[in-house]
Amino acid sequence: MDKIRIAGGRALHGEVTISGAKNSALPCIAAALLTADIVRLENVPRLVRDVSTMRLLLEHLGCETQWEGNTLSVRAANIDLFEAPYDMVKTMRASVLVLGPLVARFGKAVVSLPGGCAIGARPIDLHLSGLEALGAKINIEHGYVIATAQKLVGAHYRFQTVTVTGTENLIMAAALARGETILENCAMEPEVEDVIRLVRGMGARIEGDNTEILRIHGVDSLHEATHVVIPDRIEAGTFLMAGAVTGGAIQVNRCVPEHLTAAIEKLRENECGIQTGKDWIRIEGPKKLKPSDVETHPYPQFPTDLQAQYMALMTQAEGTSTIHENIFENRFMHVAELRRMGAHIEVDGHLAHVYGKTLLSGAGVMATDLRASASLIIAGLVADGVTMVQRVYHIDRGYERIEEKLRGLGADVERIS
Ligand code: UD1
Repeated sequence: MDKIRIAGGRALHGEVTISGAKNSALPCIAAALLTADIVRLENVPRLVRDVSTMRLLLEHLGCETQWEGNTLSVRAANIDLFEAPYDMVKTMRASVLVLGPLVARFGKAVVSLPGGCAIGARPIDLHLSGLEALGAKINIEHGYVIATAQKLVGAHYRFQTVTVTGTENLIMAAALARGETILENCAMEPEVEDVIRLVRGMGARIEGDNTEILRIHGVDSLHEATHVVIPDRIEAGTFLMAGAVTGGAIQVNRCVPEHLTAAIEKLRENECGIQTGKDWIRIEGPKKLKPSDVETHPYPQFPTDLQAQYMALMTQAEGTSTIHENIFENRFMHVAELRRMGAHIEVDGHLAHVYGKTLLSGAGVMATDLRASASLIIAGLVADGVTMVQRVYHIDRGYERIEEKLRGLGADVERIS
């Protein structure tokens, strides 16, 4: 299994280019199931795990797919299976995104129930009750969700909790339902917005951009489209924090600064110097990082997917910062590993108190999930000596060529196969 070796202590300098958003690419690939025509997706990150798994899942269902650089074309003209098997869903929860499109277009979907994962139980009850509201019959048998419908019918549905993939699943389903659907308490993440742009480009009628209420007028069929996936705001935020922790000065290119408003605000509180342009953000780490508390919430507030990285940064702030994780019940797995590197962090339920500044020392550490591994890399960049991050496959799920990009900024990082 690959490892990432980091020799800490170098300030990052230079420019880095951000890839397409994984969390946008995955639902966009699933949305290609809504039509028999070709859907061309540009700026898709070539992530060996999640993106490849989604592509394989679509091929398993009968789609033709083709890569050309970072463009993935999908044609769902000959779907002959309607099942997302356990082996695929267990490696990638986002497989559940095929549920809405399959049941909407073919009246049938069989999808393995995703289990819990490292960061929490993560049920999909709201995806299911939303589809039921649109008239689907849902049965759970032998660990599989079996959804059937003659034809989905528009309805009024309110999500009890804000759910990103739940909102995306329901948007895709409602796009082909008969009549009007009103969805309330929708997720407003840029990735949801991106799915709306794609599905609209395919002929869907959706109103309510950037609001938590969406009005979707179902159509009989959708057609081909070409769509450019938005830049990955979490990758961009990770690099900003990596630049800041080393006291360096870097520019993050091909990103959308507005998608990172909450993170930028925090980093400014930490006394980082930040400038933004149309599609770039420049950050300069301060001599002394100031601590700041943070709470994770749905967009537009501070994202849970940057919480672990921010915690690594706060180990270097002079004073105490409290991090409140509101989205997932078990998303502090990185704490134990950061402690092994010398961090002083106490966890109290959903709160983590970080007492800085502590000198971190390089160690062998274990990645437990995608964003936790990014936090260990950030810690490794500033630690004294060598950090060896194991179970790198977690980081490969969400970051395209991270070691190359960091090396381009002057870090002493290599992948050991
Ligand atoms: C998506 C992102 C993930 C991110 C998360 C929160 C993708 C592929 N993944 O995950 O990176 O960390 O949003 O921003 O886009 N919930 C329920 N019932 C449901 C659905 C969700 O109780 O049916 C709960 C979850 O357990 C969690 C909260 O709602 O506590 C938010 O989860 P959700 O937004 O659904 O996360 P994902 O869409 O799985």
